[in-house]
Amino acid sequence: MDQVTAREASAAPASPGRDDAAAGPVSAPAGSAAPHLRAVLAGIGAYLPEHAVSNDELAKTVDTSDAWIRERTGIRQRHIAAPHETCAFMATQAARAALADAGVAAGAVDAIILATATPDQAFPATAVRVQAALGAGGFGFDLSAACSGFIYGLSVADAMIRAGQVRNVLVIGAEVYSRIMNWQDRGTCVLFGDGAGAVLLRAEAGGAGGASARGILSTHLHAQGDLADILYVDGAVGQPDKPGHLVMNGREVFRHAVTRLAEAVGEALVANGLTGADVDWLVPHQANMRIIEAVGRRIGLPAEKVVVTVDQHANTSAASIPLALAAAYADGRIRPGQLILMEALGGGLTWGSALIRL
Ligand code: COA
Repeated sequence: MDQVTAREASAAPASPGRDDAAAGPVSAPAGSAAPHLRAVLAGIGAYLPEHAVSNDELAKTVDTSDAWIRERTGIRQRHIAAPHETCAFMATQAARAALADAGVAAGAVDAIILATATPDQAFPATAVRVQAALGAGGFGFDLSAACSGFIYGLSVADAMIRAGQVRNVLVIGAEVYSRIMNWQDRGTCVLFGDGAGAVLLRAEAGGAGGASARGILSTHLHAQGDLADILYVDGAVGQPDKPGHLVMNGREVFRHAVTRLAEAVGEALVANGLTGADVDWLVPHQANMRIIEAVGRRIGLPAEKVVVTVDQHANTSAASIPLALAAAYADGRIRPGQLILMEALGGGLTWGSALIRL
């Protein structure tokens, strides 16, 4: 089992001579004296496919019912991508919204980290398709950590910002799970949906730091590869004629999810000297209402402080946290200065948490 914890790292300065509005190659600076740099969340954006499919509509083609799905998972509907709503298309739409929210031009983006398990092609990375569509500079790559991908992406971006390698980073979660569903398997096909969410992280010179400072306070990543066979995609991903299908042992995933996610949120709080009472919002991975409630209870958080979108979006894997964040930001629940705790678990198994002050 691996663990990486990033917290209060000292950092080197951003590349000298770079202008926020200028694109161009970005390289890690050779170590000169440096202010502390923090990864501050500057913008949030989202994209959902136009077509929403209710449980009742799904029950016309799948042997299931609205009551079964709602009782076991809390899901009421999911969005399903049309052919033109590719991973790159949805990621680009979400990224544009995040850039607009931040007031940052695409040309000032240094890096695009796109978390996805459903890229449009094996390569090039969907991130470079997004780079081209946006007209962004810098570099981009895809990150594969299944439903934990957004947390992993935040962690990588945070480390690069603290190291002074980049200033403006898009972290995107984008998924088209409808294309890897086995629509004959009612135990999985009712659970997932499509969509994309994005955040723009910006380097800011931090003051004293600590839990009251803005930005990512810490991230905590884990994986346990000997559990790979309880949630995986069979076949070959990236080939249109053999797309591969998601396979899951739901009970086993459920069992590990509650334990591991409770540990991960506890770890984030302890690392920062905080308790559940300090948290303004838990923005969890949206897999299942029962898992979300169980984790909230473990840290004593009332249901009103937990952002829930699983009813509307179902499980959108790496997109689910930024989609939930965007929903709560758009309706005014999430505001600057608040402390946000995020957690996710997915195939791998991978799991992790992130604590961020807006
Ligand atoms: N509609 C109706 N019945 C269904 C069904 C569906 N969509 N899917 C399964 N069933 C049936 C099964 O066939 C089974 O019937 P049986 O008792 O006659 O054999 C019964 O419901 C129970 O199935 P089971 O798989 O044991 O259900 P469960 O209580 O474990 O709930 C999940 C299934 C998937 C909802 C639950 O295991 C879960 O939430 N797991 C976590 C999944 C998850 O979050 N994964 C993503 C993590 S990133």
